[in-house]
Amino acid sequence: MTNITFTTTQAERRTDAEREAVLQNPGFGTHFTDHMASITWSAAEGWHDAEILPYGPIPVDPASSVLHYGQEIFEGLKAYRHEDGSIVVFRPEENGRRLNESAVRLALPELPVELFVEAVKQLVTIDADWVPRGEDQSLYIRPFMIADESFLGVRAAERARFIVIASPAGAYFTGGIKPVSIWLSQEFSRAGHGGTGAAKCGGNYAASLLPQNIAAENGCQQVLFTDSNTVDTIDELGGMNLFLVRSDKTLLTPALNGNILAGITRKSLIELAEARGYRVEERAVTVSEWREGVADGTITEAFACGTAAVITPIGELKSPDFSISFGDKAPGELTMSLREELTGIQTGTREDSRGWLTEIVSSEQAA
Ligand code: PLP
Ligand code: COI
Repeated sequence: MTNITFTTTQAERRTDAEREAVLQNPGFGTHFTDHMASITWSAAEGWHDAEILPYGPIPVDPASSVLHYGQEIFEGLKAYRHEDGSIVVFRPEENGRRLNESAVRLALPELPVELFVEAVKQLVTIDADWVPRGEDQSLYIRPFMIADESFLGVRAAERARFIVIASPAGAYFTGGIKPVSIWLSQEFSRAGHGGTGAAKCGGNYAASLLPQNIAAENGCQQVLFTDSNTVDTIDELGGMNLFLVRSDKTLLTPALNGNILAGITRKSLIELAEARGYRVEERAVTVSEWREGVADGTITEAFACGTAAVITPIGELKSPDFSISFGDKAPGELTMSLREELTGIQTGTREDSRGWLTEIVSSEQAA
């Protein structure tokens, strides 16, 4: 256990009416709670100055390294309110571990996982009223770390800051659980061998925005990235992992090949599917295989998964040259039933037999 304790500066909170107006229709990622958590790091002192403070702008020196060389990583996890009022978070220590894997790749300092979880707990506890109660709603938690040394030489910064903010959230894709269309990016890649594809760093998302715009121009909600050499071996979507379902009770998903993010939703779904007797093949999966499998009826469903997207059925994959469509067979049956199982565990309507939930506020405290 670390011996760092948090100091708290109370914010001027919004009124119940103001908060409830936001929670009626939170959207995704546009509203923020009253507080944030912050921990500072320096090479000389290590992690120190853990604080809960009012949500608001942070002072960043114009010479700060994050602004010039993009030394930044982030995480995404959710807190859910159960029927009895209690509040839980889903597998927070997994996010803490993954943050450290990203930190190593981006030459940022690792943060003890228990300090990561403690920062999340402290923030969710102080802003518990912001955890929505509505169906498909949650509190999206965004921990991130920035290099913060005022120095223009190109080297790993010797000062950094870890911050956690939180945002009440509804569905990431608007319009209910409708199959999405995805665009096959042939011109642009997200990651290359030895690059930062497996890290959750801002730069990967910056590189995905132009293809994401092209996807939108073509009526698609997300981009599918492939291996940059073949444009056939599937990596992942701009912000989600991908699964294909085969008619012989098999799920296919790209292996963690160093280019893709090791999704916690992906990992959880593999466990749930295997427990139902499905085979899960983690290996190279290609667009050709998808195309041929849909044509001969052996690939029956496709879905995207991630914290923000939960499980989102994919209706079609489009490219300038061809499209692969499930037509009115999407959303598929397994997609929807895995979604129901996972969200049931998260929201407390199903038993959490794997210990995936960490309770932050008990029903007694919430009462
Ligand atoms: N892949 C990318 C590029 C992502 O941004 C995300 C979202 O965090 C995922 C996959 C899914 O990861 P997780 O299930 O841990 O949210
Ligand atoms: C998440 O699911 O947490 C992400 O970071 C992905 C992004 C599309 C919001």
